[in-house]
Amino acid sequence: MGNCFGSQTVDPNSSSSKPNSSTRLYTPGTSSNYSNGGGFSATSSSAGLTHFSAAASAASDDTCLTRDILPTPNLKIYSFHDLKNATRNFKSDMVLGMGGFGTVFKGWVDEKTLAPAKFGTGMMVAIKKLNSESIQGFEEWQAEVNFLGRLSHANLVKLLGYCWDVNELLLVYEFMQKGSLENHLFRRISVIQPLSWDIRLKIAIGAARGLAFLHSSDKLIIYRDFKASNILLDENYNAKISDFGLAKLGPSGGKTHVTTRVMGTYGYAAPEYIASGHLYVKSDVYGFGVVLLEMLTGLRALDTKRPNGKQNLVDWVKPLLSHRRKLIPILDARMDGQYSSKVLSQVSQLTLRCLEEDPRKRPSMKEVVELLEPMEAMKEKPKESKNRPML
Ligand SMILES: Nc1ncnc2c1ncn2[C@@H]1O[C@H](COP(=O)(O)OP(=O)(O)OP(=O)(O)O)[C@@H](O)[C@H]1O
Ligand SMILES: [Mg+2]
Repeated sequence: MGNCFGSQTVDPNSSSSKPNSSTRLYTPGTSSNYSNGGGFSATSSSAGLTHFSAAASAASDDTCLTRDILPTPNLKIYSFHDLKNATRNFKSDMVLGMGGFGTVFKGWVDEKTLAPAKFGTGMMVAIKKLNSESIQGFEEWQAEVNFLGRLSHANLVKLLGYCWDVNELLLVYEFMQKGSLENHLFRRISVIQPLSWDIRLKIAIGAARGLAFLHSSDKLIIYRDFKASNILLDENYNAKISDFGLAKLGPSGGKTHVTTRVMGTYGYAAPEYIASGHLYVKSDVYGFGVVLLEMLTGLRALDTKRPNGKQNLVDWVKPLLSHRRKLIPILDARMDGQYSSKVLSQVSQLTLRCLEEDPRKRPSMKEVVELLEPMEAMKEKPKESKNRPML
């Protein structure tokens, strides 16, 4: 989930950030105060809390559909006690991962009623618990419920329910067996199998369909935080987009963009958005291009441990995308020999288009899907490996 503040807000030049994770972008906005009318209130004041500052305007930033939790008939409402039971009191051995919003635990609920179930019975779910230090947490939690709670698509992670209790905000999601794309691409540990070229293509297509759906929905939605850690994978590597904490309704009334505080993640955010706070639908396409680049190279969008000039993946690799001889040595060696030169060239060209400086020159996500889908069917025998480039 988008994290833009507090203890998880990090200086992009510091290596002491959340291990193996991306760093966040955030420009200070106004303070806001929310109450559920039942005793809970969360105050958000970003002043002085972030290390990031960009030349963006802090215009009105109604991140959510409204400032309330809208009726969401399909969501189960849990008490904190319910979710304590479902996670064995948030035991440390139930932790699935940690993000800027808080800690994600596994838990069990009844398959039909979604009521909390005993350990190991019913259906496994992922339960995200807001970290008390998260200052923007309420707004992001609210956006998640208001957006994801009313959307349904095969490539969006399913939000099953939430808890809004005194001082406690939690979200309950379908469990995604294979975790995040980020873990698969960047965690070099033996339990995680390297992703093959075919699986990467499948993930790219799934994620592209998810974004295309958001961009074509009735109320156009800009996702704003597209990155490898927000792409979750089920047991068959079907990709689903998670974390709608930064999602925004797109422009209306003939406008091309919405103006917002700059929030997102370093390395993924589109240049026009960072420079001006102008958020276009095509700003998401740029983020998609960055993830394509990460999948091609197996390298993080931003890594301060790389030498100067190579820390930002786009700055480093984008100029090489149309020069196969220079590109091939940078491709992820774990896919060596698995791709045909024709498909590689098509993916490189598509990546380049997604990363265009001018948002108008980027393809729509619908076009991206249409270009990627036929590539999956092209199972031509690979003619080259990294060691034997055929140029
Ligand atoms: N629905 C889920 N099913 C299985 N694992 C999940 C699920 N949601 C999250 N996780 C695990 O928890 C980790 C943390 O997720 P979270 O969304 O809180 O943070 P993040 O995406 O890594 O970072 P950020 O806060 O920057 O978005 C993920 O990397 C993933 O391993
Ligand atoms: Mg996330």
